[in-house]
Amino acid sequence: MLKTLAELDRRRDAARMGGGQKRIDAQHAKGRLTARERLDVLLDPGSFEEVDMYVEHNCVDFGMAEQKIPGDGVVTGSGTINGRLVYVFSQDFTVFGGSLSERHAQKICKIMDTAMKVGAPVIGLNDSGGARIQEGVASLGGYAEVFQRNVLASGVVPQISLIMGPCAGGAVYSPAMTDFIFMVKDSSYMFVTGPDVVKTVTNEIVTQEELGGALTHSTKSGVADLACEDDIDALLRTRTFFDFLPLNNRDGVPFRPSADDGERLEPSLDTLVPASANQPYDMKELIAKVADEGAFFEVQPGHAANIVIGFARIEGHTVGIVANQPMVLAGVLDINSAKKAGRFVRFCDAFGIPIVTFVDVPGFLPGVAQELGGIIKHGAKLLFAYAEATVPKITVITRKAYGGAYDVMASKHLRGDLNYAWPTAEIAVMGAKGAVEIIFRGKSPEEIAERTAEYEARFANPFVAASMGFIDEVIMPHSTRRRIAIGLRKLRTKKLENPWKKHDNIPL
Ligand code: COA
Repeated sequence: MLKTLAELDRRRDAARMGGGQKRIDAQHAKGRLTARERLDVLLDPGSFEEVDMYVEHNCVDFGMAEQKIPGDGVVTGSGTINGRLVYVFSQDFTVFGGSLSERHAQKICKIMDTAMKVGAPVIGLNDSGGARIQEGVASLGGYAEVFQRNVLASGVVPQISLIMGPCAGGAVYSPAMTDFIFMVKDSSYMFVTGPDVVKTVTNEIVTQEELGGALTHSTKSGVADLACEDDIDALLRTRTFFDFLPLNNRDGVPFRPSADDGERLEPSLDTLVPASANQPYDMKELIAKVADEGAFFEVQPGHAANIVIGFARIEGHTVGIVANQPMVLAGVLDINSAKKAGRFVRFCDAFGIPIVTFVDVPGFLPGVAQELGGIIKHGAKLLFAYAEATVPKITVITRKAYGGAYDVMASKHLRGDLNYAWPTAEIAVMGAKGAVEIIFRGKSPEEIAERTAEYEARFANPFVAASMGFIDEVIMPHSTRRRIAIGLRKLRTKKLENPWKKHDNIPL
């Protein structure tokens, strides 16, 4: 008996060594943790339960029959993050470069299937040389099996991808279909085709980092939600992030007791909006003052910064925040900001997370590049997302809400539950100067100035919209948190359903 137990220990130890000490050292030399070390940081101590530790590949070509390593390049199982269940897979670069074989894919699929059955999120740690070249099409089939599950799990359980090494070719499409992607700076990259192929095909010379590094994807392409400093930073931020998320689409948002009084007043907000309409202010200050303990987990901070998205808590319950940012491009909506916020709104709606929207938007960004780039279709994404969302929606207009952008930003007409405006709000088709220059074209500068003042007095306020019931109440800025907290309490039992359909046809 003891001999048998010892044999189990031996097998376990062998599996835990992955591709061997030399390759583990090489991984460390690159500043990266191993697959198991990463799980140790991500999960609560002692909570990880591994499955499929002894799975081996089934390839016999290219001498592979003689090269078998238990686990086959991916560590899978479940554990907890601050006590809440999560399913994980962590690719082991020390085993065949973390490449994906048929069996490796089956292990990932088993985790995803179980997570969906029990209603728990999936976090994938990606570090892989791509399809297992020796296996060929069997490996491609493996990817597609994973893709299919990513799609079925979408909107059922949250899916998070951490990119902690290579992720290239077809491998990128599994993370691409998950809800959030966090990358590690100078250590991870994602591209469909690498620099060598790019050079051959288009003659462009570009480095790996420029083409698909963490900074590229978290600023320019918007593929990644965060660029983290190193493995540890990525894993710890994932833990913090996870605490905001519901476990699945039925469970409701998590609750974390807070000492921060929901009815806290914030007098400093009364002077947040500057006297001049063209002077910017930082919308993140408002978010910080409204959120429990000022805590806001922003996603995609470096991409389309004219809109701010992320998670906060109000009276201990998670909310999704969407806010125009007057500090960047005056807070206009453009292609990238509409896509960024549209997808976020849909995530919140899919998982029952109430949405709080702070509005200061002068309109859509004019320009040939925007029009030819499809601002009509892309702008419609955000509009569509807000309109279909049935979760509690609270909107606060702080200053400008002009034109079509007023409609888009969770207006009353898109089933906003509580639409508040500060006294500084200006809800109109456009700014007074632009409006007067159109209505009174060709008039003298004196008359234009006079008419502008007249227009401002008439429309540059929230009361016209309030007189129509488009604004439920004009509130004191200092009571914003209180109003939102009370509103969310009342909306907790909100029930609203869209008409039956197979699925909608959001403009893609
Ligand atoms: N299939 C099988 N084995 C792979 C592999 C793959 N796709 N990618 C890497 N490996 C193996 C290597 O053979 C090597 O094995 P060894 O430790 O026994 O020598 C090990 O993984 C590490 O790879 P190595 O190339 O030494 O690491 P690196 O850090 O220098 O480079 C990559 C990493 C990903 C850039 C490089 O391995 C690579 O280009 N891989 C192939 C990518 C690819 O074309 N994938 C298929 C299409 S999606």
